[in-house]
Amino acid sequence: MQVQVVDHPLAAVALTVLRDERTARPQFRAALDDLASILVYEAARGLPTMPVSVTTPLATTTGTVLAAEPVVAPVLRAGLGMLPAALGLMPDARTAFIGLSRDEITFQPTVYLESVPADLAGRPVFLLDPMLATGGSALHALSLLTARGATGIVVVSVVAAPEGLDALERSGLDIRLVAAAVDERLNDVAYIVPGLGDAGDRIYGAV
Ligand code: URA
Repeated sequence: MQVQVVDHPLAAVALTVLRDERTARPQFRAALDDLASILVYEAARGLPTMPVSVTTPLATTTGTVLAAEPVVAPVLRAGLGMLPAALGLMPDARTAFIGLSRDEITFQPTVYLESVPADLAGRPVFLLDPMLATGGSALHALSLLTARGATGIVVVSVVAAPEGLDALERSGLDIRLVAAAVDERLNDVAYIVPGLGDAGDRIYGAV
């Protein structure tokens, strides 16, 4: 697994806003949108392209289009906070929805929604999972995506815990992880420390 921690002043500033417990929901969503744009931009660096002819007002020259339609897969709920930025950068992408809830006793993920294109072979796939804690949700989502033929998936996270990185590494899957930070550890209820709290609650309000 290839891990890229994005080192950019604007990413660091947005992450600080997200970490701050005083940040209210509207500002949290805005900072997440900003940060997701930077992370997805980096995640998309390796996208295959192909040349096309393009005519400017002055001449015909060679331009570029994406060689395959990307698929973005937000892990619900919190991944939805990164979706507008991803679709802003890749407007032709398709969205695969993966709804996972976390059992607060076992921390194991349960799938409650799976709306994923049947054939992902040959398509660039981006898994949007802002908090890579135990890695359980990401691994579950990755298994759904690889079962449909996805390869070389890029996991885009805001904060990753070392435990989550280890879990993804141990899976042996051919994936890349792009994150804004790798934090210290998980606490005893599998929250990332220092982290930013419950990302879904901070985006949408506790349900
Ligand atoms: N999910 C979150 O939203 N935050 C964490 O710290 C861990 C999992």
